[in-house]
Amino acid sequence: MTTTFDMFLETEVPEDELIVSRTDFTGKITYVNETFAEISGYKPEELIGKPHNVIRHPDMPRSAFADLWETVERGDTWEGYVKNRRKDGGYYWVFARVSTVIKDGKAVEYKSVREPVSREKKIEIQNLYDRLRSEEEGTTRVVLYVKNENLEAAEALEA
Ligand SMILES: Cc1cc2nc3c(=O)[nH]c(=O)nc-3n(C[C@H](O)[C@H](O)[C@H](O)COP(=O)(O)O)c2cc1C
Repeated sequence: MTTTFDMFLETEVPEDELIVSRTDFTGKITYVNETFAEISGYKPEELIGKPHNVIRHPDMPRSAFADLWETVERGDTWEGYVKNRRKDGGYYWVFARVSTVIKDGKAVEYKSVREPVSREKKIEIQNLYDRLRSEEEGTTRVVLYVKNENLEAAEALEA
């Protein structure tokens, strides 16, 4: 008998480096810095032109991204914790600030700048996101739950 294992290894984001990407208004990646490529396990050319959800981790609740898009589309900065999926199936946690890039007074793109997350925060947010996801996966009561959980998520993200 053969036993196989899936490895889901965490990659630690270095303290002294920022992970940067930019997207067009539809969320397609237009730029990544070297640290982004290194941490995600992709080459820059594998990412440019792809929707940013190439690195979406299945543990992320839908409501987090709904909140992200609503926030940046009205011109505000979204801040929050994101678990991303590496090319090799592993993952990494970041604290992201997503905002609009303004050039000559005109909105041209979105950008995200990310920092490392403490171990305690990762555990707290993983628990929160697990709860959000299990509630989002419901059917008839989903709208009510998403609303309630958005409030809770907002509080947790601000804490
Ligand atoms: C500037 C910017 C950066 C983003 N960065 C990420 C990211 O690092 N990881 C991620 O999963 N989604 C990121 N998103 C959100 C994705 O566009 C997408 O909404 C999300 O992955 C959920 O994908 P889905 O709606 O297809 O499920 C980013 C969006 C923008 C505008």
